[in-house]
Amino acid sequence: MSDVQKQTPPISAEPTSADFRKAMGQFPTGVCVVALETEDGEIAAMTINSFVSVSLEPLLVCWSLHNDSGRFDLFAKAKRFSISILSSTQGEQAVAYASRADYNPRESDFDKSASGLPVVQGALATFECSAHTNHPAGDHTMILGKVTGISGGADDAAKALGFYRGEFVSVPEN
Ligand SMILES: Cc1cc2nc3c(=O)[nH]c(=O)nc-3n(C[C@H](O)[C@H](O)[C@H](O)COP(=O)(O)O)c2cc1C
Repeated sequence: MSDVQKQTPPISAEPTSADFRKAMGQFPTGVCVVALETEDGEIAAMTINSFVSVSLEPLLVCWSLHNDSGRFDLFAKAKRFSISILSSTQGEQAVAYASRADYNPRESDFDKSASGLPVVQGALATFECSAHTNHPAGDHTMILGKVTGISGGADDAAKALGFYRGEFVSVPEN
């Protein structure tokens, strides 16, 4: 690691959403798919990178749902949902489930967990959640889930799909 101290860039006193996006792009995240089963027995799935761990006791996680989502009620009112952490080989799924054009998930991308939730096949880890609380937060709604089941997480050789500076990356790179 270099010892050279870099100057902090000037701070914008009136940051715009573009400034915010650009700065947040410096923060690498993982990529997940939230999935649930609709009342009609269909799978609904959405790519997200707002997933965070919140609490150990009880086990809580959170993700943020855009209030303009065409499926806001479906995801915000879900009693149960899964969150799958994608591997570096699942960029195609990440793109597919970030699209508004086609809401129809390919069944072959999903397994059914023991408790009946759709989970992404081959994901690095999957969390099964029951709805905890929702919190309005600007143009998003923070959705907290109580973790009721966990699978995976033990394959240290597998690489994760990351999102960094607006692009999908492999973590670690090599
Ligand atoms: C890398 C990545 C991360 C995303 N993260 C989120 C997120 O955390 N919350 C969200 O509401 N949308 C997020 N999106 C956008 C949704 O995937 C997209 O809006 C959605 O799948 C389209 O359907 P909708 O009309 O229901 O929003 C993300 C997209 C990408 C490519």
